[in-house]
Amino acid sequence: MSERWWEDAVFYQVYVRSFADSNGDGVGDLPGITSRLDYLDDLGVDAIWLTPFYPSPGADHGYDVSDYVDVDPLFGTVADFDDLIGAAHARDIRVIVDIVPNHSSSEHEWFKGDRSRYVTVAGGDEPPNNWPSNWGGPAWTYDEERGHWYLHLFAPEQPDLDWNERQVRDDFDGILRFWLDRGVDGFRIDVAHGLVKKASLADEPEPFPQERFSSDWRTAIDQPEVHDIYRDWNGLVGEYDGDRVLVGEVVFSEQARVAPYLRPDELHMAFNFSLVFQPWDAERIRASIDESLAALPIVTWVLENHDVTRIVTRFGGERQARAAALLLLALPGPVFVYQGQELGLEEVDLPDEARQDPIFRRTRGERTGRDGCRVPIPWTRALQPNAWLPQPPAWSEKSVEAQSGRHGSFLELYRRALELRPHGPFAWRESPPGTLMFDRGDMTCLVHFTDERVPVEGVVLASDESNTAVWMSGE
Ligand code: NOJ
Repeated sequence: MSERWWEDAVFYQVYVRSFADSNGDGVGDLPGITSRLDYLDDLGVDAIWLTPFYPSPGADHGYDVSDYVDVDPLFGTVADFDDLIGAAHARDIRVIVDIVPNHSSSEHEWFKGDRSRYVTVAGGDEPPNNWPSNWGGPAWTYDEERGHWYLHLFAPEQPDLDWNERQVRDDFDGILRFWLDRGVDGFRIDVAHGLVKKASLADEPEPFPQERFSSDWRTAIDQPEVHDIYRDWNGLVGEYDGDRVLVGEVVFSEQARVAPYLRPDELHMAFNFSLVFQPWDAERIRASIDESLAALPIVTWVLENHDVTRIVTRFGGERQARAAALLLLALPGPVFVYQGQELGLEEVDLPDEARQDPIFRRTRGERTGRDGCRVPIPWTRALQPNAWLPQPPAWSEKSVEAQSGRHGSFLELYRRALELRPHGPFAWRESPPGTLMFDRGDMTCLVHFTDERVPVEGVVLASDESNTAVWMSGE
C-alpha cells in the first residue's frame, strides 16, 4: 500500500437519503449509517463519502444548504454525526463529507439578509448575460423586491456565492474547521471548478455545451483565481493531523483541464468522470484510461454516483456491470463505489409522479433527471413500503439479505474483489480485439467485452464466463 492512506483507497459513496433509514420515515439518516458500518467494514471499504446532511429545504436534496454547520433534523443531530465518526474510526473507516461552496440555499440567512455574499446585478430589463442554468432556463432570476438579478448556475433556490468577497472565504474557512475539529478526514467539494466567475460576467460563447454540468464553459467557471482558494484550503487542512484530503468535483470533458487543480499545493484528488461517459467498448474504455493516466498526476476511478445512470443499465446488463467491477477495482489509484453498485442495482424507471429531481421539473420532463439512481437501497427481502422513491419488487432478491453468502452474487463478487484487490504498478499487455488486458502488481486483469467464452488458466477471480473480467495471478 502507498504511504498516503487515500492514494489507493476504496471510497464508498453514501447518498444519505437513500442509504439506511433508522426511524422508518422512508428517508435514510445518520444513525442508519452508523447501524450499517459493520456491513461496510465487511465489504472492505477504506472510507466513506457522505453526501450533504446539513439543514436544507431540499430543493436539490441537500445540495441547497441553509446552514453549513449543523445537521438537518431529517437526518439526525450533530451528536449523531459525532457517533458516526467515532464508530467509523473505531473500524478504521475514514469519513469525508460533502461541502457545497458554489451556492447556498435561498433560505440561508446570508441570502435572506443583505446578500453581500452573492453574485447580484442591480436593475435592468434583461438578465446581465446569456448564461443558462445547468438545469434549464436562464442562470439569473430577477428579484422584484430587491430590484436585482441574482445568479444561480443550478436552480433558483441555489444562489451562487461571490468568492471575490473576503467574507465568503472567511466563512468557509470556519466551516471547514468546524467539521475538521469534529474529526472528518476530508471534503468532497461540489462544483469545485465553478466557484469564481469571470469578473466581467461576459457572455458565454454559444452554442452552449449542455450535455454535462456546464463542463466546457469558459466564463462562468474555471477562472484562474479559483486556484487561490484551493491553495488556502490545502494549507488549512494541512494544519490538521492524519492526512486529511480535498477531493474536487471538477468536471471537464478533457482531463487535461483537471490537471491544474491537482498541483501539489491544491486538491489531493479530483473525480475522474471519463469512464462515466464511455459505452461498454474495449477501445473507448482503453482510450479513456490512457487519457486520464497521461493527463493527471493522480487518477481516481468512478463508474457511478448519484448523478448518473447506473452501470447495469448504461453498460447493457448485469454481466457487463460485474466485469466492469473487476476492471474498476484493478485500476491504479483511488476508486469510488456508489452505494448499491455492489448490489448490481439497475436504473429505476420511475413514474413521472414519483420523480423529485429539479432537473425533471425545470426541463418540463425533457430530461428525466437523476431519481432513477437514487432509489433507497434494499437491505432486506421485505422492501420498505414507504421509501421516499419506490423500490421495484424485484429488488427483494437484490437485497443485502438475499445476496449475502449467495455464491456468485454481485455482493460476494465485490467482497472478494475488495479482499483480493491488487496494488502496485500498472502496465497494458497485448490482447485480441474486444478485450483489454493489463498487469497490476502481481495480478493480471483480462476483460472481455463480447459474448465469447474466455479460456484462461490461473484464474483467481472471474465475474462470469463471457462478457467477463478475470483476475489471474502472475505467478
Ligand atoms: C453536483 C452534485 O453531485 C449534484 O447532485 C448537485 O445537484 C450539483 N452539484 C449542484 O450542487
